[in-house]
Formats: sequence, C-alpha cells, structure tokens
Amino acid sequence: MINDDQLKTLAEQLRCPDGEGGVKLGNQMNISNLSVILNGIANVHIRDHDHILELGYGNGGLLGYILSLADDIRYTGLEVSPTMHQEAIALNQPYIDAGLAQYQLYDGTSLPFAPETFDKVLTVNTIYFWQEPLLLLDNIGKVLKKGGYLCLTFCDKTFMQTLPFIEYGFQLYDAQTVKALVRDLPLKFIREDCKKDKSISKIGTLVDREFTSLVFEKIA
Ligand SMILES: C[S@@+](CC[C@H](N)C(=O)[O-])C[C@H]1O[C@@H](n2cnc3c(N)ncnc32)[C@H](O)[C@@H]1O
Repeated sequence: MINDDQLKTLAEQLRCPDGEGGVKLGNQMNISNLSVILNGIANVHIRDHDHILELGYGNGGLLGYILSLADDIRYTGLEVSPTMHQEAIALNQPYIDAGLAQYQLYDGTSLPFAPETFDKVLTVNTIYFWQEPLLLLDNIGKVLKKGGYLCLTFCDKTFMQTLPFIEYGFQLYDAQTVKALVRDLPLKFIREDCKKDKSISKIGTLVDREFTSLVFEKIA
C-alpha cells in the first residue's frame, strides 16, 4: 500500500524528475509510456527536412527512433527538469555532436526561439503540468512555421481521475477542453486520435489507459 507522502513524491517526480529517483523514473517512462509516446510521434507526421521541437523529452530515450523516421531532420528538445536534461545529453551525445539534436532547459512557458522556426511541435504527457497553458500554446503557435503541425498527446481526464496521485498538482484535460483552449489561436484542429491500452500504472496496478493525440495546423 502506498501512503500519501509516497503519492506526493511520485507526483512531484512525474512533474519534474529529480535525482536518483528521477533517473529511474525517466527510464521506466520510456517503457511504460511507450504506446502513448509512439502515438504522438506517429500523429505529428515527421517528414524529410523537418525541424522538430519536443517539450518534455524526459531522458531522451527515443531520440534515435525519432531521427530514424525521415531524412535530414533536426530535433530540439525543451525540458524543465535539470536531471532529465543531463540524462538526455549523456544518452545522446553522438547525435548532439553530429548536429542532429540539441537539448535545452527552459522556464516551462517562454520558448527561446525565433518565430516560425519549427515544422513540427510534439509534447507527450506534459500538459497536466503547464503553469500557463494558453500562453504556452500561443508561444508554440508563434514558433511553428505556417503549415506546421502541433501534436498534443495526453491521457484523458476520465482515466487520469482513477489514479491516486493526481490530486498533487495535476491539471486534467479532455479533448474538448484542449480544443477550446486553442480555439482563438492560429492553430486549426485537424485530427483526433483516441486509443486505449492495458498498462501498469505508476503505482503498479493494471489499468485500461485512455489517451489522445490532438493535431493542429498553424494557419497564419
Ligand atoms: C510525465 S513525464 C513524461 C515524459 C515523456 N514525455 C513521456 O511521455 O514518457 C513529464 C515530463 O515533462 C516535463 N515537464 C513538466 N512541465 C513541463 C513544461 N511546462 N514543459 C516541458 N516539459 C515539462 C517533466 O520534467 C517530465 O520530464
């Protein structure tokens, strides 16, 4: 049985993995979240010559896979966790040295890039932790090129509500709420991909996990 303090610690680690526990969680998430992450990667439609931005790359364990999906692509990742940042660099140094990828820390809202820098923006399992969702979405819209895609992948509110740690700082979303957030931005909704899998939750129980990828196109 997991007590309240342990649930709180788990929630904090999911929000911003830190130290030895964070390193362990970063490794675990690549496996336990694999079907969710792959759904996001598939929906953002990576194509030759794309410059891709990912928010919340964790330990960067899937970078090699992402770079294998098309020719001449470049990858930039932003994180808020210094532990994940160090891990991603350590795991991916040859890709970084070859100029194929770069990792940066940021404040979780302001994107340190010129307008219209990226062809694709992807983020998986981070929206629950955004401090200023509307401002971040606006900022994402600015750094996307016209015709570029944003894919937001997350586990649905109905599923997340069944987990015992979400009371510690998670903001939960369903597809309608996210689409409403984006409504006044120059991001046109183009696709919703809802999937289910059977996974082992972060507290070790078998769960039917429902997740969604929402894809938007930058239109102006
Ligand atoms: C639950 S983990 C998910 C990691 C990975 N994307 C996955 O799906 O397995 C959340 C990650 O998002 C990062 N994160 C939290 N807030 C963020 C923000 N505002 N922008 C980018 N990343 C953020 C955390 O540091 C953590 O590495």
